[in-house]
Amino acid sequence: MSGLTEGPVIRPRRLRTTPAMRRMVAEHRPDPAGLILPAFVREGIADPVPIAAMPGVVQHTRDSLKKAAAEAVAAGIGGIMLFGVPEESKKDAVGTPGTDPDGILQVALRDVRAEVGDDLVVMSDVCLDETTDHGHCGVLDASGRVDNDATLERYAEMAQVQADAGAHVLGPSGMMDGQIAVIREALDQIGREDVAVLAYTAKYASAFYGPFREAVGSSLKGDRKTYQQDPANFRESLRELELDLAEGADMVMVKPGLPYLDVLAAFAAEVTVPLAAYQISGEYSMLEAAAEKGWIDRERAILETLTSFTRAGADMVLTYWAVEAAGWLRRDY
Ligand code: PBG
Repeated sequence: MSGLTEGPVIRPRRLRTTPAMRRMVAEHRPDPAGLILPAFVREGIADPVPIAAMPGVVQHTRDSLKKAAAEAVAAGIGGIMLFGVPEESKKDAVGTPGTDPDGILQVALRDVRAEVGDDLVVMSDVCLDETTDHGHCGVLDASGRVDNDATLERYAEMAQVQADAGAHVLGPSGMMDGQIAVIREALDQIGREDVAVLAYTAKYASAFYGPFREAVGSSLKGDRKTYQQDPANFRESLRELELDLAEGADMVMVKPGLPYLDVLAAFAAEVTVPLAAYQISGEYSMLEAAAEKGWIDRERAILETLTSFTRAGADMVLTYWAVEAAGWLRRDY
């Protein structure tokens, strides 16, 4: 006997032999055009302020934000998602800076649009946590509970001023019931049928948002568990998805990213609209910290996470590494 009949005939390893072979047969690869850079802009600072818990990420000045937006265009990424950080003294119970046409987010939207025009999709956060003195995503009722319907009125106003300031896409992230319908209606009322809504559809009450609180100088005490989803629940995310689509969401998102790939994959099997994942602050910090200690290979680990989102079905990924990762992807592909 020759021995040829011994051992497996079918050998998947043949397709893993060389980098060229692996590249050719890769089923999924993240695309720079689908990456979205979340960016913070802070009022009243002369220089960018580093965010301690997110090494490499800063609170931008108006000028440095414009430069970052220009870099994002040069890197060929898809979009930028802006978060405004008003001066502490301007925050109040109802988040007035969020509806002031001269509030920092609106100012930044105008700056960025003047810089990039339509070469980058410019998005903004519709939420009150950056502008309220209590740090919740909505306004509070007399008992201190987040008042859903009173908050919707604030979101409607925010949507209109953000559209006026030049946002192409609005990202309501507060998980209030009915927020997509109210925002859609508010936009249509002022003739802005052209502005799209990216719904934070399944947004979970996550410990991984920790570093973001520093990034936006949030003074939140307590948690957001009465409005964000319980990490224990999966079916509930499908209910949120049905509602957001019925209310007119143009795109939907799952957030955080890696701990919720099951939800992302389920959405991918279900939706006919573009699907995004948000790789959030704590996911960023965790990986940066391990890399800094030399415990993991930073670049490989980042690209692996982005590949995972793509494999699970995300068309778009919000990630603080968007610009850097786009460079690696262009080099590799
Ligand atoms: C709310 C909002 C948050 C994030 C995006 N939008 C914070 C929260 O819900 O607590 C978190 C993003 C991140 O952690 O990177 N405006």
